[in-house]
Amino acid sequence: MRMYDIIQKKRDGGALSEAEIKWFIAEYSAGNIPDYQMAALCMAIYFRGMNLEETTALTFAVRDSGECLNFSEIKGLRVDKHSTGGVGDKTSLVVAPIVASLGVKVAKMSGRGLGHTGGTIDKLEAIPGFRTDIPVDEFKQIVNEVGIAIVGQNATLAPADKLLYALRDVTATVDSLPLIVSSIMGKKLAADDDCIVLDVKTGSGSFMKTPEKSRELAEWMVEIGKRAGKRVRALITDMDRPLGYAIGNSLEVVEAIHTLQGNGPADLTELCIALSAHILVLAEKGTYAECEEMAKKAISDGTALNTFASMVKAQGGNSEWILNPEKFPKAKYSHTVTAKEEGYIVGVDTENYGVASLLLGAGRNTKEDVIDPTAGIYLCAKTGDKVCVGDPIAILYSGSEKGFAAAEERLISATRIGKDAPKEEPLILDVVE
Ligand code: URA
Repeated sequence: MRMYDIIQKKRDGGALSEAEIKWFIAEYSAGNIPDYQMAALCMAIYFRGMNLEETTALTFAVRDSGECLNFSEIKGLRVDKHSTGGVGDKTSLVVAPIVASLGVKVAKMSGRGLGHTGGTIDKLEAIPGFRTDIPVDEFKQIVNEVGIAIVGQNATLAPADKLLYALRDVTATVDSLPLIVSSIMGKKLAADDDCIVLDVKTGSGSFMKTPEKSRELAEWMVEIGKRAGKRVRALITDMDRPLGYAIGNSLEVVEAIHTLQGNGPADLTELCIALSAHILVLAEKGTYAECEEMAKKAISDGTALNTFASMVKAQGGNSEWILNPEKFPKAKYSHTVTAKEEGYIVGVDTENYGVASLLLGAGRNTKEDVIDPTAGIYLCAKTGDKVCVGDPIAILYSGSEKGFAAAEERLISATRIGKDAPKEEPLILDVVE
């Protein structure tokens, strides 16, 4: 086979065969196809798309590009939850301990921040001593003993995705449905979990900006997961506003702890309970209503928080900080952003809120950047709130003052203020089974 012929076929709108897809993934992973040819193919896929059969073949080829993990030594049903990426999305830190405290095993591999979106691993590393690079055997032992462990992606897991993602990130080909499906599901299927609940974000802070596109993404991921023999369900959830009030790593860990203590923001709590209940239903713990009650009780009786503290301790972190979140240090500098006009916040460009947080040091502009765990944004007003001139909209936090001006400008121009209160939109738009 020749890469040239495959690029040309996709460029002209043809459907690639399973053999062609397997071939280019294997050859690219082995370093035999140069980045410029792979980039050309990604762009052809971006414009021409792929049908469900091609996308399934691509997902399975990404899964099989490395080692598929074997979690059979973990006793009990293993569950996973994955978000397609958002701003202020700290749900994994809440949902994983809730469901683990209710007897399902969470053997979770998470990612770092991508573009304007945050990543669970960067958040967990804001906890002093917390190790995210645990060897697989120790990881399985912690899951067996504590019920939960969250680690960074193993280097041998779906290596084709690692290469492809880095390439897509710099060639404007991230937001392509078949490429997102194969990237996320290729990794998820290489990890040996029984049940997967996907949180497919939609709106200005997500990679898929419309509910129609997000629904298609959700349907394809669920279908391909089922073809691989997994129990999969997807929630389509709103990312036209950040989730909760905190954006940035230690700020988000603290907000997640408050949520586990029963004092979290309403939107974050609602979504975490729903995601937990759907996971518990897939794990056959009861009806949706029963599972919802169980999840709420795990928060109110403190078992979910204690499970989180036990996981942190088992992974080398200081669990005292989890039980006393006021111990998390505040950033050296802070700056309050105020409203420049009076009215209701009618909407925000969530992606630019994420970028503002990144400019403060909470994310990376280059792969080598070191994250400031204290950096980020605490929102004082969100969509639907009324503000007067001079009212605080947000407090910016950073270890250095140099990002404040640019972050403030982003935040102000990303916040739309109007005369009338906006219509209240649901947080959970749909469930795809
Ligand atoms: N998250 C991933 O892992 N891959 C994508 O392509 C998008 C979000």
